[in-house]
Amino acid sequence: MYRWQNKVVLITGASSGIGKALAIELARRGASVGLVARREELLAEIVDQIKSDSGMALPLVADVNDANAIRGQADRLRLEFGPIDVLIANAGIGGATHAIELQPAQVAKVINVNVLGAVNSVAAVLPEMAERGKGQLVAISSLSAYRGLPKSAAYCASKAALSCFFESLRIDLMNSGVNVTIIHPGFIKTPFTAGRKAKMPYLMDLDYAVDKIVRAIEKQKKTYAFPWQLASIVRLAMIMPTFMYDRIAARNSFRE
Ligand SMILES: NC(=O)c1ccc[n+]([C@@H]2O[C@H](COP(=O)([O-])OP(=O)(O)OC[C@H]3O[C@@H](n4cnc5c(N)ncnc54)[C@H](OP(=O)(O)O)[C@@H]3O)[C@@H](O)[C@H]2O)c1
Repeated sequence: MYRWQNKVVLITGASSGIGKALAIELARRGASVGLVARREELLAEIVDQIKSDSGMALPLVADVNDANAIRGQADRLRLEFGPIDVLIANAGIGGATHAIELQPAQVAKVINVNVLGAVNSVAAVLPEMAERGKGQLVAISSLSAYRGLPKSAAYCASKAALSCFFESLRIDLMNSGVNVTIIHPGFIKTPFTAGRKAKMPYLMDLDYAVDKIVRAIEKQKKTYAFPWQLASIVRLAMIMPTFMYDRIAARNSFRE
């Protein structure tokens, strides 16, 4: 059985949504958690909440795009709680992008946070993990990584890149003692999806999704896509002829 006690976990994007819920849940299970995000006051509140529940947590204010800042905060976490056992690269942003209104600066922002932010996070922990021959790198990708979706070019591209990046790492790190887990969630109720008018099929409660993510990390799954209903539809979409996929996808936009 997996034990979270004495595990040190670095979570990016921990001020809100999935990252916040993971931090609270893993601390409740006995892990010492380092919470990375930009909004200092939110991190302070979450850390207070964890500590008042007798948990161990450290607020680590940083932008994932700042490689030195992330490295510095990872060092602080190591000094405070010891070697980092698990990285959860979760920080991410979305945003609707229709082809006709393409804004390169907006696309760059999404790719910077979702891909290069995760790269910076990995770089802040991997050398020590590899040296110890022990550790786990977790990416919070998305079911959107598998095929292009309407009005989501930047987001889909960023998640496809993120998944591929971590897949390559997983192969490089085979037999190194460092495991890689890529999580591909469907829609989850968080501030990220709040207020969207478009129908989101199989929209999940946050607690349910966090439970699934924690279990996949514990089982050290190489990749985990959920909920199974939407994951099955996506798998079907992957083998669908392009002309058929395009027609179906065009009629099913999850963005206004
Ligand atoms: N919700 C869903 O339906 C869903 C589905 C599939 C995948 N995901 C993925 O899950 C992850 C978390 O999403 P969520 O739903 O929890 O969204 P959320 O509630 O909006 O949280 C996003 C988190 O990312 C952090 N973040 C954004 N830019 C950052 C930056 N430059 N540096 C550091 N932290 C940054 C935010 O913190 P600050 O603003 O304080 O920096 C916040 O803590 C994302 O990668 C998202 O793509 C979400």
